[in-house]
Amino acid sequence: MTLTASAVPTRVATPFYRAVGDEVAVFRAAAGRGLPVLLKGPTGCGKTRFVETMAHELGRELITVAGHEDMTSADLVGRFLLQGGETVWVDGPLTRAVRQGAIFYLDEVVEARQDTTVVIHPLADHRRELPVDRLGTTLSAAPGFQLVISYNPGYQSVLKSLKESTRQRFVAIELGFPPVDIETDVVAHEAGVDPETARALVMLGNAIRHLEGSPLREVASTRLLILAGGLVAEGLGLRTAVQSAVVQALSDDSDVVRALGELVDAVLPRT
Ligand SMILES: Nc1ncnc2c1ncn2[C@@H]1O[C@H](COP(=O)(O)OP(=O)(O)OP(=O)(O)O)[C@@H](O)[C@H]1O
Ligand SMILES: [Mg+2]
Repeated sequence: MTLTASAVPTRVATPFYRAVGDEVAVFRAAAGRGLPVLLKGPTGCGKTRFVETMAHELGRELITVAGHEDMTSADLVGRFLLQGGETVWVDGPLTRAVRQGAIFYLDEVVEARQDTTVVIHPLADHRRELPVDRLGTTLSAAPGFQLVISYNPGYQSVLKSLKESTRQRFVAIELGFPPVDIETDVVAHEAGVDPETARALVMLGNAIRHLEGSPLREVASTRLLILAGGLVAEGLGLRTAVQSAVVQALSDDSDVVRALGELVDAVLPRT
């Protein structure tokens, strides 16, 4: 698997983000002190959008890396590569962020191998430094550097593998799905649908989230509701859109799909 790092220029238009609680104030305070932030929340609840928004507001570059099981510290820090018969050092995304004073966002941190904590820990406490063993040096993080990691507490194994010594270095911010009015605004804006359609989708999302004894591993996220809304904006009927973007996306089990279908029938307006 290859490492995907993307740098989001901060000059682009302000990202659309609707705050749900005090997350903006908490992030700003943490940024003021250069403290690292741990974002907790289910998939599709707005973690990435929130970090993009904060980077834009703070005028910092954002470097994002998605954690995966093959990720090692060299993927983050850098490595020697052979280029035209010469061996040259190439900074990894974390080293670039440390040098530039950027916000470094490591998505799904627990997917990465344990050896990545060796480079994360000294950056996440008062030292703010990155040991680059292969260069025999230690870099001090430039002002503005901030480490942000995310994880989804819904996955049990993930919860176990985030070490206590890692957790306790971070200011934690929990993001969940927004209340109905805010999520309706988000779905209407992002999907480009009218408020009534957005609201119907959000009501359905909430009904799925509150299903008792639900067999679903993940519930309907804001992202899924936006996907369904996008299909409606393209002219598809609401029920057809929901069937494809929500029901079939959530489960492969025919009994569960049938039960979700019944819920959709009960919750969506008949038109
Ligand atoms: N509070 C919000 N304000 C504006 N848009 C939001 C908000 N919450 C969610 N969204 C929308 O939902 C989409 C999914 O959110 P995002 O990609 O940030 O989720 P995530 O928590 O990073 O998910 P994952 O864990 O899968 O990476 C965003 O592209 C955005 O359109
Ligand atoms: Mg994300």
